[in-house]
Amino acid sequence: MTETLHPIETLLTTRRTVVCLGPGGVGKTTTSAALALRAAGLGRKTLVLTVDPAHRLANSLGLDRFDNDEQEISRERFEAAGVPYVAPLYAMMLDTKRVFDDIVERYAPNPEVRSRILASPFYKEASTRLAGSQEYMAMEKLYALLQERRYDLIVLDTPPTVHALDFLDAPGRLEEFMTLGDDGLAAKGGRALGRLGLGFLRANTAILKGAGKFLGADVFTDILSFIGDFQTMYAGFRDRAAAVKRFMRSDEIAFLVITGPERASIDEGLFLRERLVADRMPFASFLVNRTRLPVDDAGPLEDETPEVLAALRHAAERMGVLAARDARELARLDKALGHQALRIPESADDICALRDLHRYAGTVLA
Ligand SMILES: Nc1ncnc2c1ncn2[C@@H]1O[C@H](COP(=O)(O)OP(=O)(O)OP(=O)(O)O)[C@@H](O)[C@H]1O
Ligand SMILES: [Mg+2]
Repeated sequence: MTETLHPIETLLTTRRTVVCLGPGGVGKTTTSAALALRAAGLGRKTLVLTVDPAHRLANSLGLDRFDNDEQEISRERFEAAGVPYVAPLYAMMLDTKRVFDDIVERYAPNPEVRSRILASPFYKEASTRLAGSQEYMAMEKLYALLQERRYDLIVLDTPPTVHALDFLDAPGRLEEFMTLGDDGLAAKGGRALGRLGLGFLRANTAILKGAGKFLGADVFTDILSFIGDFQTMYAGFRDRAAAVKRFMRSDEIAFLVITGPERASIDEGLFLRERLVADRMPFASFLVNRTRLPVDDAGPLEDETPEVLAALRHAAERMGVLAARDARELARLDKALGHQALRIPESADDICALRDLHRYAGTVLA
């Protein structure tokens, strides 16, 4: 007899990439790790590319080192956690600067330009502090990993941003900018720079605009020469952005929208889903994490003191109020979706060890 797969398990076994998208703090990283664990359990060689995992979660994934190389979660770790080992599971932390460095190393047209870019003080700024860069570099890393074809599946966690849309927009914005024309970037001035919406270029826009007033000629020349050097790699950026954009619309990827049960969170999720659908990116499922359920059995209470009993009753009442609120929001969501969103219950325990992730995956895929 073959077991029927949960629809998300079907994605995990058939797609090359599954992306967890959603507002900040809703459980994207936790869910990505748990789904990757399940995928490996289903026999796929899987990588979870995480962004800023909580310290203890990083530890259980073997990511206690400060690098962004992939770490295999050893068979021994699986055994110690009592989780069946089927296929290899790897975890990697997205390190924006390292990804950027790798791109420069790989795609700079010659060693001179490469060293100049890497040594430029503006490069340091650009590669560590750019707004929107994490989103873009996650895409670059995804692209590089897909090219290497070392994994059956990549589960992609997305950055803790208040604007999850930035992630979807990153390749398009870059591509649009890169195709503006061939006249020099510096000549286009601040307006063109601003269109890219990447923080370092925005910062440079401000610098460029005010350069005459605030900066010495040396600094101004440095900036222009940095931009000039950087420009030599633009065709590559543009081509990769276009490739990622195509991949994001293919049937090899699936997007999961994860939210919390609060109204604002659900609304952002609905907005994200609309955008995915409008842009023909394969939206697959809506998951509402940390849904609160009414407490219907508080267990044997006879031996408790009146104070403890009162406190427990109060907690149960409060939980009932929150559960009712969540139920209302979920009903509204189901109506908007035209089907039932997946609910993931609020867990009383932390989710950081491998065995917690295994248990959590069980509740997601129940
Ligand atoms: N169902 C759940 N029940 C209880 N706690 C949960 C649940 N899901 C996630 N958490 C906890 O919520 C916290 C945030 O989760 P996580 O880091 O996965 O969110 P995130 O969406 O990746 O956040 P960010 O946007 O900051 O990256 C973690 O401490 C995690 O253990
Ligand atoms: Mg996260």
